[in-house]
Amino acid sequence: MNVVLGVSGSIAAYRAADLARELMRQGCTVRVCLTDAAQRFVTPVLFESLTGQPCLQDAFDEPERGRMAHIEWAKEADAIVVAPATANTLAKLAHGLGEDMLTTLAIASRAPLVVAPAMNPKMYADESTQAALTVLRGRAALVVEPASGEVACGDTGQGKLAPIEEIVSATMTVLRRSRALAGTRVLITSGPTHEPLDDVRFVGNRSSGRMGAALARAALLMGADVTVVSGPASVAYPLEARVVRVRTAVEMLAACLPLLAGADYVVGAAAVADYRPESPVSGKIRRSGETLDLRMVRNPDVLASLSRAATLPRPVFVGFAAEPDEGLEHARRKLAEKGLDAIAVNDVSGLGVGFEAPDNALTLLAPGVLEASGRQTKLGCALWLWERVAGLRGR
Ligand SMILES: Cc1cc2nc3c(=O)[nH]c(=O)nc-3n(C[C@H](O)[C@H](O)[C@H](O)COP(=O)(O)O)c2cc1C
Repeated sequence: MNVVLGVSGSIAAYRAADLARELMRQGCTVRVCLTDAAQRFVTPVLFESLTGQPCLQDAFDEPERGRMAHIEWAKEADAIVVAPATANTLAKLAHGLGEDMLTTLAIASRAPLVVAPAMNPKMYADESTQAALTVLRGRAALVVEPASGEVACGDTGQGKLAPIEEIVSATMTVLRRSRALAGTRVLITSGPTHEPLDDVRFVGNRSSGRMGAALARAALLMGADVTVVSGPASVAYPLEARVVRVRTAVEMLAACLPLLAGADYVVGAAAVADYRPESPVSGKIRRSGETLDLRMVRNPDVLASLSRAATLPRPVFVGFAAEPDEGLEHARRKLAEKGLDAIAVNDVSGLGVGFEAPDNALTLLAPGVLEASGRQTKLGCALWLWERVAGLRGR
């Protein structure tokens, strides 16, 4: 496991030496990258002697001639840990500024990021620092919260670098997570379906596709090959995911069926319309009488149909159930009726969670499993879900 340890210009920089040794004790190969400011506190020689690896400093000063270290290290890294992370480096990471070797390397890498902020409590509490951390959390970075107490300048409050064992534990978590779906193929349905009434109108629902996008991002972060079959959603899916666009439930099923062979996981996060207008009108339905009768016919159940069509070795099937009243009975029934391995119950009753919202709260139901995620960002929920669903394979 290759860890790039980024050290930025904080008084706590000296503690990165212990961190490097602890990570090496856990079996990691540690390569250290120092910012200019960090070199005012610690020297490359210290880390080169400790790790036996060259220490990166200047973006233009490559340790191996003709090889771009920021790209090579970025590719080879299984995790990037920035500890201590200054307010300045956090802001650069959040905004994608590649002003030095560390931040350039971080942009070039798809490895999971761990940041351990260390600074004066006022700097830590400042809106700009908190905003940077929110952005980084939104990209699945793991933030190891600083401890409270007296900091070097004599002020008291939250800002001391977290204990080394906490940073090591966070690093081991992201390393484990980044391999949990390695080599697997994931098929995700996402977004709403639009069932046409005529050429300009449709029956739809409020699904934004955000949960599906979060599931795709999380699965990619965990090493999977990801295909998303999406209804009409404006959410941006990750570039690394293959995205097949469809409109209706019937099209969604038709697009998924050929992708079933070879899939290890099938997750139905799409809000598929249960019914569709029986006879869509070509052109436009014109205003005429006082009422308009609409006859709807049943749509195929996409996930249940896929589960029935699956041959051995069967993928793990995971459904979503949007339950406005938190009732689990309906979800339990769905689990059995649709032939699923697990179902994630989505509380859509609360404000700020569920449909169109940035956050979610899931309850995972599987044989012998009943666990709640608590309120988290959709990406946080997706990582939480995949960690548990990965354990269902081969059960
Ligand atoms: C003695 C001293 C201690 C500092 N400690 C911190 C610190 O703990 N956290 C922080 O965010 N900035 C600290 N700074 C300010 C940073 O070093 C400064 O913002 C620098 O530009 C950070 O650059 P870097 O993020 O590229 O390492 C300190 C500065 C000095 C002079």
